[in-house]
Amino acid sequence: MALLIDGKTISLQIKNELKAQAEKLREQGIQVTLAVIQVGNDPASSVYVRNKKKGCEYIGIRSLSYELPEHTSQEQLLALIKELNDRKDVNGILVQLPLPAHIAEDTVIQAIDPAKDVDGFHPQSVGRLCIGQRGFVSCTPAGIIQLLKRSGISIEGKECVVLGRSNIVGKPMALLLLRENATVTIAHSRTQNLKEVTSRADILIAAVGKAKMITRDYVKEGAVVIDVGINRDENNKLCGDVDFEDVEPICSAITPVPGGVGPMTIAMLLNNCMESVGLQASLPF
Ligand code: GUN
Repeated sequence: MALLIDGKTISLQIKNELKAQAEKLREQGIQVTLAVIQVGNDPASSVYVRNKKKGCEYIGIRSLSYELPEHTSQEQLLALIKELNDRKDVNGILVQLPLPAHIAEDTVIQAIDPAKDVDGFHPQSVGRLCIGQRGFVSCTPAGIIQLLKRSGISIEGKECVVLGRSNIVGKPMALLLLRENATVTIAHSRTQNLKEVTSRADILIAAVGKAKMITRDYVKEGAVVIDVGINRDENNKLCGDVDFEDVEPICSAITPVPGGVGPMTIAMLLNNCMESVGLQASLPF
């Protein structure tokens, strides 16, 4: 039987560690503060934003909430970001994505002060990760590294295949695994002989957004399988990119959906909020 990598338990462990850190900072008179901006009311985004605010409350981070109407102009949003960049009492700024079509996401992400970029999406944060400098790391891939480490799975020297090349998950995931001294392959929709490539993996990270695409013929026996997908199956039931029932019997460890990678993203956002205090104290970092 494969080890079930329990993201709920591991994320709670991390949140409790952060709660203790936040308490210590408060004793020193430091109140960590995250500004959360949502434009419009996409229902999925509203759920994510609510959970982020709940996470802040749990560990004792103050959250400032900006719920802007769908028709907010890019200039208005940029003006708010500038105001939050300038505020000494704001440590982190998060703009929930996706944004309405009339707003350029790249422009907005680049407007956030890199010292407050708790999502790790700013080109400066991505560049720092790429060349091994200190900075914010995208939350989902950072959470996956924690899942592996805290489950006692070693990464060094392992063949890791990341399936998916998004800026938020696939690319930073590959860089983080490289930083842990893995041998890393990024596979994607144009990869030839995909099953052959993914079957080389000791650790396979599936981040393609296709319900149950990864069946056992993509997986080496005894591999560790990390499922980043959040999809709906034919019965509208939540499922990952991995066909769990098919793959679980042949792998050594696997994350469930839900309850695997998902809860780690918020835990790592809260971790980045706590780290922002140290980064801001040592500017320029
Ligand atoms: N939309 C989906 N995931 C994320 C995330 O991690 N951060 C932000 N800001 N928006 C998202």
